Amino acid sequence: MIAPSRPYPFGIPDAATKKPRIAVIAGDGIGVEVTEQALRALPALGVDAELTHFPWSANHYLATGETLPKGALEQLRDGFDAILFGAMGDPRIPEQIVARDVLLGLRFGLDLYINLRPVELFDERLCPIKGKGPQHIDFVVLRENTEGPYVQMGGTFKRGTPDEVAISEDLNTRKGVERIVRAAFALAGLPRAGSASAISGPPSKPRVCMIDKANALPHAHGLWQRVFKEVAAEPAHKDIAASHLYVDVAAMEFVRAPERFDVVVTSNLFGDILTDLGAAICGGLGVAASGNIHPGRVSLFEPVHGSAPDIAGRGIANPLAAFLTLALLLEHVGRSEAAGRLRAAVQAVVRRGETTVDIGGTLSTAACGDAVLAALSRYSNSSTLS
Ligand code: NAD
Ligand code: IPM
Ligand code: MN
Repeated sequence: MIAPSRPYPFGIPDAATKKPRIAVIAGDGIGVEVTEQALRALPALGVDAELTHFPWSANHYLATGETLPKGALEQLRDGFDAILFGAMGDPRIPEQIVARDVLLGLRFGLDLYINLRPVELFDERLCPIKGKGPQHIDFVVLRENTEGPYVQMGGTFKRGTPDEVAISEDLNTRKGVERIVRAAFALAGLPRAGSASAISGPPSKPRVCMIDKANALPHAHGLWQRVFKEVAAEPAHKDIAASHLYVDVAAMEFVRAPERFDVVVTSNLFGDILTDLGAAICGGLGVAASGNIHPGRVSLFEPVHGSAPDIAGRGIANPLAAFLTLALLLEHVGRSEAAGRLRAAVQAVVRRGETTVDIGGTLSTAACGDAVLAALSRYSNSSTLS
């Protein structure tokens, strides 16, 4: 059975009628290795896309001194529908200036305010929690992606002395909080076909859970609470169950009772941390995908994982997160049928154990890519997948 995908309400209007224009930024380390595999799926899916590769990476910086060049934002905004991103981060680069300039530069510069990270268990064997299966872990985190401590407001004083002071401001605006909260309600409100989240009995009411720390951060997260309550109380949201959890207890609940979550909305930093935990309960970073989205505009899709310098160059990185990332990108450019086939192919290789070592298999990155392509061709030959 194909895992039912959530409806995707954030795509480019009328994209299905146009050839998708995709910018590829493979980046550093395993970002390059997994992106190469994911791109093999496009012809296999019959998706005719216009691909443009950009070299931005640690190597490019070391050779040219360039991070995100002038004019890049305009070029991406005006000339592309989506960006497929691998990963950035390199131990040779001080303070990760390249990753910050490029990845955070694109998130902020293109105003990609929704960081959508599915937490979806494809197969029981990937789950480290006793007694939990795919029917228990099927939710999505919407992480605010343009504010919080990530704005890099702040500074240091008396740097390098015993009296040093370091400040990173946590910026939260009503506009920023409201638009991510609204996105969560918009997503939760859409009907899901064949939802896997109904454990038994009738399908449950859609749920939005907001995760904050208003008990300790009454100013910033008091704003989150007030905005969340206002939006939840709107008549259009009367059929959506709204709740909130503090982030400490939410971390526990991700592990203790993941079935209680449907759509989660949270701040930038909490979302970063919680989605690595979300990845862990589904098999780890090797299978976690994400989209950095501005609804209706060019958006950036990347695995949740980083450049993994500890395994880069060894040909053992798991490419499944990159394939699932491409599936999200395909939803954004109006190719949801192809996205569904790709997700099903990933699910099939997981079930057959045709995976890399991080999730219990023995295959190399390239051989796992081969297995995904083989699953896709079995699918197009028989219209069912095994
Ligand atoms: P990481 O995600 O790169 O790696 C964490 C651990 O998970 C490592 O042990 C790694 O080997 C393993 N892992 C990650 N992806 C895997 C995959 N596909 N297959 C198998 N194992 C995988 O996180 P890190 O080590 O904290 O960061 C490394 C660099 O990447 C840093 O510079 C960091 O800033 C950067 N980073 C970038 C992104 C991004 O580009 N979006 C995300 C996270 C971290
Ligand atoms: C992620 C990463 C980034 C983040 C880093 C590389 C700045 O961890 O995409 O999750 O914190 O957002
Ligand atoms: Mn992260």
